Amino acid sequence: MIISRRQALQATAAGIGSSALPTAIQAAAPSARITTLLGRMTLAEKVGQLTLMNAAFRLPNEVGANTGLPVAQAEEQREIEAGRLGGVFNGFGVGWARALQEAALRSRLAIPLILGADVIHGLNTVFPVPLAEAAAFDPGLAQRTARAAAVEASAVGLAWTFAPMVDIGRDQRWGRVVEGAGEDVFLGERLAEARVRGFQGSDLSALDSVLACAKHFAAYGAAEGGRDYDSGNVSASLLREVYLPPFRAAIRAGCLSLMSAFNEVDGVPCTGNRWLMTDLLRDQWGFEGFVVSDWNADIEMVAHGYSPGPRAAAKDAFLAGTDMSMRSNLYRDHLAALVEAGSVSVADIDRSVLRILALKEALGLFEDPFNRIDPEREARFAKPAEHAELALEAARKSIVLLRNDDDLLPFDPTGKTVALIGPFAETADYNGSWTLFAGEGPSLAETWRKRLPETTRLVTSEGATVDATDEARIENAVTAARTADIIVMILGESSKMSGEAGSRADIVLPIAQQKLLAAVQATGKPVVVLLQAGRALALTDALAKAPTLVLTWFLGTRGPDAIIDILTGVASPSGRLPVSFPRAAGQQPFYYARKPTGRPAHDAAAVAFNTGYVDVGNKPLFSFGHGLTYGRIAYDRPALSGNRLGARDQVQASVRVTNEGAREAVETVQVYVTRPAGLVTKPRLELRGFKPVTLAPGASAEIAFDLTADEVAGVETARGRIIVPGQAKVWLGGSAETAVSVDLDVAV
Ligand code: GLC
Repeated sequence: MIISRRQALQATAAGIGSSALPTAIQAAAPSARITTLLGRMTLAEKVGQLTLMNAAFRLPNEVGANTGLPVAQAEEQREIEAGRLGGVFNGFGVGWARALQEAALRSRLAIPLILGADVIHGLNTVFPVPLAEAAAFDPGLAQRTARAAAVEASAVGLAWTFAPMVDIGRDQRWGRVVEGAGEDVFLGERLAEARVRGFQGSDLSALDSVLACAKHFAAYGAAEGGRDYDSGNVSASLLREVYLPPFRAAIRAGCLSLMSAFNEVDGVPCTGNRWLMTDLLRDQWGFEGFVVSDWNADIEMVAHGYSPGPRAAAKDAFLAGTDMSMRSNLYRDHLAALVEAGSVSVADIDRSVLRILALKEALGLFEDPFNRIDPEREARFAKPAEHAELALEAARKSIVLLRNDDDLLPFDPTGKTVALIGPFAETADYNGSWTLFAGEGPSLAETWRKRLPETTRLVTSEGATVDATDEARIENAVTAARTADIIVMILGESSKMSGEAGSRADIVLPIAQQKLLAAVQATGKPVVVLLQAGRALALTDALAKAPTLVLTWFLGTRGPDAIIDILTGVASPSGRLPVSFPRAAGQQPFYYARKPTGRPAHDAAAVAFNTGYVDVGNKPLFSFGHGLTYGRIAYDRPALSGNRLGARDQVQASVRVTNEGAREAVETVQVYVTRPAGLVTKPRLELRGFKPVTLAPGASAEIAFDLTADEVAGVETARGRIIVPGQAKVWLGGSAETAVSVDLDVAV
């Protein structure tokens, strides 16, 4: 299936026929029921609908997340019964959900709660972290895993997920790059659309659909230094061209809630940024859903030095267009007084309340507040077999084969001694960040022991923890390595080293593990390195030169099985990098779609008086889009169906690929463009499409992409999208670094 921006838009538009900003699900206009209900609500009850609190109330056998709960269970129930709480999040279980909805129905107007959680990459079944799944370059897969997550989330009483996270992540020091789709805008847009469709389905009232929430609006990933929550100085054109498009794609796909980001944009914190939350989101984009603040993001405007105090922060956030306040209780404590003081109008309050009530109605909660609270469904989806198969498929497709220099992979362990060495050999840490409710599954060693051929001997040695080792541990590992025919090392980050508040200044493999790797490699035995990470790392020394290198990210519930399948050839690697791997941490932020500048960087080592460093070259260690297969893929020169493209035309770019290897391969062919000069500076090249093709040994295939003038030369400007005429290039290949270009004249 060809994935290009135009087809994605057409697919979306076809689904709804709207001309403005097409959304797959239109927020229902307030029904008579809701407008009548609004007319009966007191101001305090209206403000209650704008207040969201994390789960304090839970039955003894239920679990909740976000520890450090602000209120006791009894107090939270009182808030709900008094109509002062419209939603609760990060609780779990139908027992918890039923208790809260029953409390809501005891309130004067019996308005049901909306129950949400951070279901980012699965719930009971944990799928690969979103950055890993992005490596599959497969929006259909992303939609399916989001759908499965929605089924499991709705089976434990949840109707809302705080996902997809659609922040573009170009600085790998930022811990939250793990939650998104990586560095590229086009891939980010396609996965945003897919995940929204997966979570919401085609009918929000269906009991296995949950409301999606695109986050964090906006430019959270631009944090300076990759420091979480820090400011990012983003130009207007960078906002329009990089950080906003995935949100627009999510909204076009029907996403009906957005979460404000902690950071500021152009000197104004997002939560209080009226240009962002109203002028752009509502007036220009026509967004019809509601905006929830991130955790305490409204009160944090005081710490930002933007709002002089809590009451001002409540006013700033609400008047900017943030409809619902998460966890700070700022709206509960100040909105009524602001109305009485004439700073906030009842009409503004009503507008936000209607948005939230309309979505509660769209979710079917007024028809039946217990529609997602069914013990049988909860039991049914506690560990569904069909999701286990999907989790295995997703894990396999997320694995990226970075190097296989000696064709060591795949290997047959039959009759061999395999040494499995590293901190994650016997210790399971595969779920990754934002796995709120599921525990870890079996370790790689435990999983492999169940699958090994009789004649295989598996020896394991930790050799180092994530960040510590000693001579004895290393000696033990080397001894184990010496007895082996092949060594598999599983090294990398722990899941705590990425995710929220997981920024790292030096994105290298912890030194202890580097020592372990060097000692094991010194044995001269064949070594396969499995690298577990929630980001692109700066691979240095022995790791940078490892001849057999497999990126395993955090693959979730079926991670160990998928790793074994790829190592032994039960499945073949097809993943591609959604983030560039730099040569040094100091290169961050590092991404392929860089601007050429007036002194373009030379690909070779540093060249004086050109963009780059004196100590590190400009090329990545592994490029965006890179990923090997077990085949040997050769590309012919690309061709165009014409070398001139008019405004209403399209051009077909094609290339023949051949598998010259001895094993079947799935190659992901990518198409990039260099847009014509004019209006604003643009990146050297940018992804515009990708297509997987399965090639048997010796087989060839012609892969073609249809591109419009907008895809080749469109620029987002303050005046809307403009097609810039002039000389363009179309690139085709297996990565941003290896793609080959053909010239194209855009004449509009
Ligand atoms: C966190 C995160 C956000 C999450 C929210 C609720 O701080 O920034 O992504 O959805 O709080 O847990």
